[in-house]
Amino acid sequence: EQINKGKYEHYMQKEIHEQPESLTTTMRGRLKRGGSTKAKTVLLGGLKDHIKSIRRSRRIVFIGCGTSYNAALAARPIIEELSGVPVTMEIASDLVDRQGPIYREDTAVFVSQSGETADTLLALEYALENGALCVGITNTVGSAIARNTHCGIHINAGCEIGVASTKAYTSQIVVMAMLALAIGDDAISSQARREAIIDGLFDLPNKVREVLKLDQEMKELAKLLIAEQSLLVFGRGYNFATALEGALKVKEVSLMHSEGMLAGEMKHGPLALVDENLPIIVIATRDACFSKQQSVIQQLHARKGRLIVVCSKGDVAAVCPGGSSSCRVIEVPQVEDCLQPVVNIIPLQLLAYHLTVLRGYNVDQPRNLAKSVTTQ
Ligand code: AGP
Repeated sequence: EQINKGKYEHYMQKEIHEQPESLTTTMRGRLKRGGSTKAKTVLLGGLKDHIKSIRRSRRIVFIGCGTSYNAALAARPIIEELSGVPVTMEIASDLVDRQGPIYREDTAVFVSQSGETADTLLALEYALENGALCVGITNTVGSAIARNTHCGIHINAGCEIGVASTKAYTSQIVVMAMLALAIGDDAISSQARREAIIDGLFDLPNKVREVLKLDQEMKELAKLLIAEQSLLVFGRGYNFATALEGALKVKEVSLMHSEGMLAGEMKHGPLALVDENLPIIVIATRDACFSKQQSVIQQLHARKGRLIVVCSKGDVAAVCPGGSSSCRVIEVPQVEDCLQPVVNIIPLQLLAYHLTVLRGYNVDQPRNLAKSVTTQ
């Protein structure tokens, strides 16, 4: 066991730090630069006989639980943008509870690290009965979801042992960004955008290496937050998922109550919680939603909110209303907007890890949780 952890103390820590390598493996052999007809393109072998049907589907429905659901939520905007197909999201158990509408003309995409989650498997059974084209995105070759879907993509993140999913999350997002590129591959109008994303994917492991240098800074932040009761995380757009996933990481391992929220909903209730004591993380990296996040920060600042802002490098003055003394800032490298969730989640994974160790809890095996939830 010790050997598998290498130089690390815990599996979660190892899995967070090996993300530059796991992402490289996820992309290996799938991204092409150069070639005779297209300059830059994506090859997803497992989908080659089905990609046209996916393009023609009436709707793409993403289905998963926990972190896998959050990964699909992070990829949703780029799938919508590049495919032009409406995308809806389903938490597996809720779809089954409601017996929600799934049609023959739908593509249902099942996202699961283990490929064995009971709720997701039941939803798959239901989608197959309803005649949808079923695609699996898993990290486990030969798993039930990989076997029972019509086609799929393996995320190739390598074995994940920590109960808290970290490297599988970032690899899932990258696989779904590649899925978006593959579906939109025939549209001339978005070629420049697709090529920029492919360049961004090639450079992503380097950016992740850079953001991992925040480790010590996140440990210092964890020391400040060690005795807190609660933590809020606000995000929107591409980073709504980062807010949900960051809060999930903190609550499942450090056992601190934390909630991820859509920043656009802040005025509709959560604002009442804001005071000078409650720590609030705001994700405000540069993208189309940046100015809206600046205004959220101003509103929180006006109510004396205790702010921790995740921003793009060099943006401290743009995100801190009263200068850096008014809030704590975590600067991350800027990447292509749809890939930013991969970078932005890493400081929050590190925060969850350090909070847990400092609070003295079991980081790899949190109480009451299992790595693979095979019962309903
Ligand atoms: C992740 O940190 C959690 N342990 C949990 O939410 C997990 O993502 C969920 O149970 C789904 O598992 P799966 O990806 O193996 O289907």
